[in-house]
Amino acid sequence: MSSDVLFEIKKENLETGLRGYPIGYCTTSTVDPTKGLFYSEKSIDEIAFREPEEVIYLLYYGKEGNKEEIQKFKKELERRSNCRPELIQKIKELPKEGHPMAAFSCALLFAGMYEGVNEYREDCLNLIAKTPIIVAHLITSREGWECKPSNPSIGYIENFTKMLNVPNANLKTLTDTFKLFSNLHFDHGGGNLSTFVGKAVASSLEDMYGSMSAAMCALAGPRHGKANQDCLEFNQEVLRDVGEDATDEAVKDLLKSRLEDNRLVFGFGHAVLRVEDPRATVIYEVLNKKFVDRPLVKIANKLRKNGPDILKGNPKIQDPYPNVDAVSGTLLLESGFPYPDYFTLIFGLARTVGIAIQIVYERCEAREGKGTPIIRPKYIYKKRDMK
Ligand code: MLT
Repeated sequence: MSSDVLFEIKKENLETGLRGYPIGYCTTSTVDPTKGLFYSEKSIDEIAFREPEEVIYLLYYGKEGNKEEIQKFKKELERRSNCRPELIQKIKELPKEGHPMAAFSCALLFAGMYEGVNEYREDCLNLIAKTPIIVAHLITSREGWECKPSNPSIGYIENFTKMLNVPNANLKTLTDTFKLFSNLHFDHGGGNLSTFVGKAVASSLEDMYGSMSAAMCALAGPRHGKANQDCLEFNQEVLRDVGEDATDEAVKDLLKSRLEDNRLVFGFGHAVLRVEDPRATVIYEVLNKKFVDRPLVKIANKLRKNGPDILKGNPKIQDPYPNVDAVSGTLLLESGFPYPDYFTLIFGLARTVGIAIQIVYERCEAREGKGTPIIRPKYIYKKRDMK
């Protein structure tokens, strides 16, 4: 056992959200503050436009699959994708009130009741295969759209997009966007909140579905997954306030006045990154290639150009650069999916992949197969000072 000191805990590290504390190993991906996200040592540029099944394979096995291996893996996902009619019925009966993420967490618990086998590896692949079908039924039943029958042989995301049957959307454009969006959101290191929560809940030996349901409650918060919805609404508000042809000065003034009024500026900063999020960089490139004349894209570009200068002036802000949420919602909307309430759900659909695989590592492989113990950090007693 090495006695290398990895991190020294001082008083000022308390109540900082465990920022920077190393607590274990992550075998799927890593996030470098200046280089961004890597899936099994592959950069975002290398994976962004691959087939999602290839990326899932890379995360699951920690290595590239050859043609035959990918084909076999696709068949495996296809075979596991079927959902029992009782589960689909329960999803359709879920309340339409409240945020779709609440319904998603419930749907995952129902999925555990009907589909769970209480074996992490099996449940991991089953959950990855079934989630697109679960999410497609969830959205279509809330919206009253006709859910098309599942045909997983056409591809993981192809099937999802087809089932979703979004009114007035171009199927190819939307499929391409959902593929890119999924590739960029499948995983983000071991310590992002939803992944950490999923692994923490699984450390009690709760099953995969219950752990994932809890993880999705964590993702639902505005500081985590719901940021993509809030950012889109922020971009739309800025567009209304300054107009699509606003000057750089007008955008800077708007940002300054929001900061002065202690109002939030969305889409900048990250817990780990200290540069523009490379996932955002890919999305800006796609937006500028496909939708450069759209008013919302013009505003997103102006915020990207002017935001960092304004935010750098604030000593409390450690990372003044755009994050993935700054533009992921704009991409979904411009690609024919103008439903911000579901943006976090589309994020969740992707992130379940990384979380499920990380749970398998912690439960079945860590510590020579013994698995990590139940999460149980220490809190220091402090007398409450109620005035
Ligand atoms: C992300 O995708 O940026 C996250 O899940 C947030 C994080 O890494 O903490």
